[in-house]
Amino acid sequence: MDKLVVEGGRPLSGTVKVSGAKNAALPLMAASILCGGPLILENLPRLGDLKTMGLLLRHMGGEVDPFWEKPESPAGDSGPDSPLSGPGPVSLDMSSLRLPEAPHELVKTMRASALVLGPLLARFGRARVALPGGCAIGVRPIDMHLKALKEMGTEFDLSGGDIVATAPKGGLRGAEIRFDTVSVTGTENIMMAAALARGRTIISNAAREPEITDTGEALIRMGADIEGLGTDEIVVNGRDSLHGASHRVMPDRIECGTLMAALALAGGRIRLEGAPLECLKAVTEKFAAAGLKVDSEGSVMDLERAEERLRPVDVTTLPYPGFPTDMQAQFMAMMTLASGASIITETIFENRFMHVAELRRLGADITLEGRSAVVKGVAALSGAPLTASDLRASACLLLAALAAGGKSQIHRVYHLDRGYDRLDGKLNLLGARIKRMRA
Ligand code: EPZ
Repeated sequence: MDKLVVEGGRPLSGTVKVSGAKNAALPLMAASILCGGPLILENLPRLGDLKTMGLLLRHMGGEVDPFWEKPESPAGDSGPDSPLSGPGPVSLDMSSLRLPEAPHELVKTMRASALVLGPLLARFGRARVALPGGCAIGVRPIDMHLKALKEMGTEFDLSGGDIVATAPKGGLRGAEIRFDTVSVTGTENIMMAAALARGRTIISNAAREPEITDTGEALIRMGADIEGLGTDEIVVNGRDSLHGASHRVMPDRIECGTLMAALALAGGRIRLEGAPLECLKAVTEKFAAAGLKVDSEGSVMDLERAEERLRPVDVTTLPYPGFPTDMQAQFMAMMTLASGASIITETIFENRFMHVAELRRLGADITLEGRSAVVKGVAALSGAPLTASDLRASACLLLAALAAGGKSQIHRVYHLDRGYDRLDGKLNLLGARIKRMRA
C-alpha cells in the first residue's frame, strides 16, 4: 500500500488539464453492454474504479482495451503518458458477452458495479450481481434501483448475497417510475434498462447530474430514444437494439473543483484547461465568496487566491445543480483556515464526515452537530500523519496537507487512486512537493 509524503507551504503555479469524469465514465462503460458493436470512449481518466469496471466487463466475456495499463511516465514529462494526457480512444466490445454476472470480489471494491444490472437485464434478460456492501460514507442501499426494475417486470431472488434478476419472457416493460429520493446511479440504471425495454418509460424525480446527461447523449448516439436529459423527468422510448458509437467523456467537475480547492489552500495562481464551467456554477459561486479570484473563458479557468486568508462561507450539499456532496470534504479543508466560522451541512449521505477527525489532527477546530459541521478557522495547520477513509476524504487531507506547515503523511492512498487520475502528479506539476512511497 502506498503513502504520500507532503511538504506543505508551497504556493501553486502553472497549468493542468482536467481529466475525463469518473462518474460519467462508469455508466458509459456499463452502457457498452447494451450495444451490439464496439462503443469507443475518448478522454477516459486512468483511475482505479474504471480499471475495476473494465475487469468486470472482461469477466463477463467482453473485450475492453486495457487503457489503465499504460506505464506511468515521470510527472512533468509532457509525453503521451504524462499526468496531462489521457489514454486515447478506448474500445469496449460486449458483443461476445456470455456471463451476465458481477461477482462479489469485484462489486465489494466498487459499489458502482450495480450499474451493470439495468443493461444486463435489458440486453440478456437475466443478471446475477452481488448486493453492494455499504462503504465509509453510508449504507448506500440500491433499494430504489430494484423497486424500479421490478416495476419494469423484473423478478428478484437473493442467493448467497447475490441479486439474481430475471426479466419477463418478452423483455423488460416500459413503466412509469418515480424515485422517492433523487438517485444518480438509480436514474442511470433505469435509463439504460429502459433504452431496450418494450414501450415507454417515464422516470420522475430523476437526478439531473451532468454525468447522467453525458451518458444519455451517448445512448442517443447508440440509437436510443431519450428526452428530458438534465431535467427531473426523463422519457425513454425503448428500441429493439442499439448499435456501437463513439463518445468523448465529459470533463470531471469534481476533479476540477478539487484542483480549485488545492489552489485556495496552497495559494498562488493556476490555469485549469478543459474545465466544465457550465456544471460548476454552485461551486464557483462559493469559491468566489471565499475570496478566490476566478476568471474563465470558454473551458479555461484562471484561479488566484486574491487575499491572504479565505473568508468563511456556509455550504449545504444538495442534488445537482446544488453544491455537490463530492466537494464537501474539500471545501471543509478550505474553511479550516478561513478568517471566521462556517457551517457545512451534508444532506445526501449520513456519514460523510470521516475526514473531520483527521483534519483535527492537523489542528483544525471543527465541531459536529448532527448533519452539520461548525468549522472555526484557525491561523495555521501543522503537518501530521493522516489516514484516508474514503475517496473524497483522501483528497481533502491531501489538500489540507498542502497548506499545513511542515510534513504530512497520508496513508491508505488507494482511496485516492480509485477516483482521481494521478492527482498527486498533477499537483506536483503545479509546484507541490508530494512524494509517493511504499507505506
Ligand atoms: C453517485 O452515487 C456518485 N457515484 C457519488 O459519487 C455521489 O456522491 C452521489 O451520486 C451523490 O451525488 C457515481 O456516480 C458512481 P445516490 P450514488 O443514489 O448514485 C440514497 C464519488 O465520490 N439511496 O444519488 O450511489 C443513498 O444512500 C461518489 O465519486 C437509497 O437510499 O448516490 C444516498 O443517501 C461517492 N436507495 C442518496 O440516496 C437507493 O436505491 C443519494 O444517493 C439509492 C440511493
